[in-house]
Amino acid sequence: MIVTIDGVAASGKSSVSSGVARALGIPYVSSGLLYRAATLLGLEAALDLSDAPRLLAHLRALPLRLEPLAEGNRVWSGERDLTPGLHQSAVDAGVSTVAAHPELRAWVDEQLRQLPPPFVAEGRDMGTNVFPDAPAKFYLTASPRIRAERRSAERPEDVDAIEAALIARDRKDAAQSAPAPDARVIDTGPLGLEEVIGEILGEIGQ
Ligand code: CDP
Repeated sequence: MIVTIDGVAASGKSSVSSGVARALGIPYVSSGLLYRAATLLGLEAALDLSDAPRLLAHLRALPLRLEPLAEGNRVWSGERDLTPGLHQSAVDAGVSTVAAHPELRAWVDEQLRQLPPPFVAEGRDMGTNVFPDAPAKFYLTASPRIRAERRSAERPEDVDAIEAALIARDRKDAAQSAPAPDARVIDTGPLGLEEVIGEILGEIGQ
């Protein structure tokens, strides 16, 4: 069984996916962390993030691994845990450029499709492209202001700057961010985390 939870930036996908996965006793898989790891490694190597062939060659030479734990995913490059650096603002700013390359998307999809089900898969295109046959699909939304307010607890910038960056990223990610036609869309704006998790679990009969 695969449950897909897609949605716009900072819509609560990771926290919701983690909660749903824990309730079901299965792992969750954060596809965004692979795009973020690709971006971090590209920035560290001073690569041009728009040069997809060069970036991909660099990534393929590294022993990169996504560890899909229910409490929170981690990305490793060999023995090095990349996770603490994946949510810095420089990665936020570059990740959509990386995610726009079809070669980079294929690189991420390849890794995701190797994972053994069951799991909850979280991202932008889990229900549309990567796991189109998943029996349970969800898509989370919320207004940019609410999302910026939630994220301001995790970023040093002020809420206006975070909101502007989220709107810019939504625009750049639009191509891969459409809800699957069979996804249940949930506006998380008026809901608390536990309520969103409860709605999803109710819908899948748990
Ligand atoms: O929570 P937030 O949306 O900020 O981040 P994320 O889910 O870690 O995704 C980071 C970025 O990765 C997004 O802005 C997209 O550019 C890209 N992404 C994607 O293109 N497709 C996915 N399935 C997941 C993430």
